[in-house]
Amino acid sequence: MTGPIVPAQSGRRRGLLARAQRAVDHSRVLPGRRHRRCAPEPSGVQERPSPDGGVVADDVDRDARALARRLGDQPTAVTSGTGGIGAATRRVAAYFDRHAPRYDRQMQTAERLLLGAHRDWAVRQVEGQVLELGVGTGLNLPRYAPGVQVIGVDLSEPMVERARSRAADGAIAAQVDLRVGDVQRLPLADDFVDAAVSTYTFCSIPDPELAAREALRVVRPGGRFVLVEHGTARGRLVRTAQRLLDPLLVRLQAEHLRRDPLPYLQRAGWQIESVERTGFAGIVYKIVARQGQQDAQPLAPPPSA
Ligand SMILES: C[S@@+](CC[C@H](N)C(=O)[O-])C[C@H]1O[C@@H](n2cnc3c(N)ncnc32)[C@H](O)[C@@H]1O
Repeated sequence: MTGPIVPAQSGRRRGLLARAQRAVDHSRVLPGRRHRRCAPEPSGVQERPSPDGGVVADDVDRDARALARRLGDQPTAVTSGTGGIGAATRRVAAYFDRHAPRYDRQMQTAERLLLGAHRDWAVRQVEGQVLELGVGTGLNLPRYAPGVQVIGVDLSEPMVERARSRAADGAIAAQVDLRVGDVQRLPLADDFVDAAVSTYTFCSIPDPELAAREALRVVRPGGRFVLVEHGTARGRLVRTAQRLLDPLLVRLQAEHLRRDPLPYLQRAGWQIESVERTGFAGIVYKIVARQGQQDAQPLAPPPSA
């Protein structure tokens, strides 16, 4: 079932787009609200140096420029500017645009050999109105329980197109609203959803802390964030392999192998309820965090130019 989703606190049926158009005007949404200091600048993009800066292949850069032209007037994507997270985000989108046709097959192999099966676990932790960050091709969508309303946001239009096809095939019990957008600047008002879910997305987000702060902002107080992510392995041998492979995979696949999710979740203000390490050499982190309404630590100021 597909269709627009209503905000967590309201029974009114309103489209996400209508909410988005109001919510992306952060000058209206954020002043006076908690986490105000995390808000992107009202005029558009909060440009900060990307942790990924400058390590991408030329063909990805070329695609990123094309994507920037395509998304240029889309207010939900952090796409303006020539450096910082804007440029890094465009490169990530360009990578997934190109690899969308192969994504499901590659992910199936990775889950069979390395990661394990954790999607059912993730979606069973949540109920009500749920935001899925980086919904991709919608591999989680058929697993949500009936009655759950899912807002799926992803940077890559080809990935979202595949999620839409999946949602349209009738095998999905949840109500689904899928949108192209950047989870580092979510097109949703504060406290909009009951919970957030993300699987294997934060490893590719240029600024995962910013995305975690945005998730904290849009999840209602007391709501959950369920994260399945890969990170640093337990064994020294595998950790060394990850250290060697990491620069290559960042360059070729926008993929960070060694990001530990706990520090960016905690810095963003999430209260960690449980952490389980699983998968090959413990590379998979299954985390449940709570929106405890405590303020995030202030963002580090950008280094002076
Ligand atoms: C490895 S895929 C995971 C997809 C899906 N969550 C899954 O479990 O199969 C990573 C996804 O994150 C999306 N993504 C990366 N950075 C993003 C951002 N800043 N905003 C929205 N989506 C993003 C990519 O477009 C891609 O679809």
